Amino acid sequence: MEEGIARAHINIALVKYWGKRDPSLNLPMNGSISVTLDHYSVTASVVVESCQQGDSLFVNGVPGSSQETQRASEFFSRLRATAGVSGGVTACTTANMPMAAGLASSSAAFAALTKAFALSLRLPWSLPELSRLARLGSGSASRSIHGGFVEWLRGNRDDGQDSYAVPLGTMDSWSSLAFVVVQVESGPKAVSSRDGMQRVVETSPLYQGWLASISEDLTRVRQAIHQRNLSQLGLVAESNALKMHATGLAAVPPLLYWTGATVSVIRRVQALREEGLKAYVTIDAGPHPVVLVESHQAATVADLLSQIPGVTGVVITRPGPGVEAVSSI
Ligand code: DP6
Repeated sequence: MEEGIARAHINIALVKYWGKRDPSLNLPMNGSISVTLDHYSVTASVVVESCQQGDSLFVNGVPGSSQETQRASEFFSRLRATAGVSGGVTACTTANMPMAAGLASSSAAFAALTKAFALSLRLPWSLPELSRLARLGSGSASRSIHGGFVEWLRGNRDDGQDSYAVPLGTMDSWSSLAFVVVQVESGPKAVSSRDGMQRVVETSPLYQGWLASISEDLTRVRQAIHQRNLSQLGLVAESNALKMHATGLAAVPPLLYWTGATVSVIRRVQALREEGLKAYVTIDAGPHPVVLVESHQAATVADLLSQIPGVTGVVITRPGPGVEAVSSI
């Protein structure tokens, strides 16, 4: 059988996906907007063998854990059902980032696996179809199908057919924008984004306030992207991220993803702004901040942030491409 190989990049949300209206289909409570980044990626290879029973997964050259393999296998069953095929999948993924450290590795992994599966069977799946299917693996993966700025439409249907991602601007559409990914000292995160958002939906008294505020955040971020307005984009993205983490602080038991270094980075970025520099911070469900800056100031900002105690690395990245076929893993 043919091997399909595809690469996808992680995305960072500017308006976060936070809470599900249907956990089995990963249907979101709210729409979200992200940017796909060019530095961190996952490459996946998929072979579907009609005479093979069961699926196997290799992650960075070693067999996946039973939990990872089960999640992947459930995902492949959905792809098989959509494609109308049977047989076992052998999949390998390699990532150039620490897994499960709050750096959205699952967004890139499921986007790459979806495309690799389609390539291995020569299925002519469209971008909306790839996005809907990647969503079933991990909600945020629906956005990594596209490069640049991306909106994942909430949709209203129970079957999820209208819940997929659409491009808002290509990777080249805003070339003066850069992102500094700040890695802080931490182990694997204690609570996954999947469990964290579920806990928030079920227990946080602030969750309804979060939902009520999203429509305006989406409008302002769409407008900022359209107008290439970094101050507007950054201020809304920062406030949206802090608001998301606030819902976690109010959950039972409380959810606190930050370390001391995360707080120091937030304070430093806010101080830089007071000095007149355009820098804004966002943080997914983990401790690592991502700072939005103008490209020509990225190196200066990265250097300043790298000196904060507890910061273990900084990487300057830019808007990156959507999922693509590649020739080797
Ligand atoms: C905080 O996409 O990892 O990063 O759908 O359960 O796999 P599942 O969750 P996931 O959640 C990402 C949450 C977030 C915000 C975002 O990426 O929009």
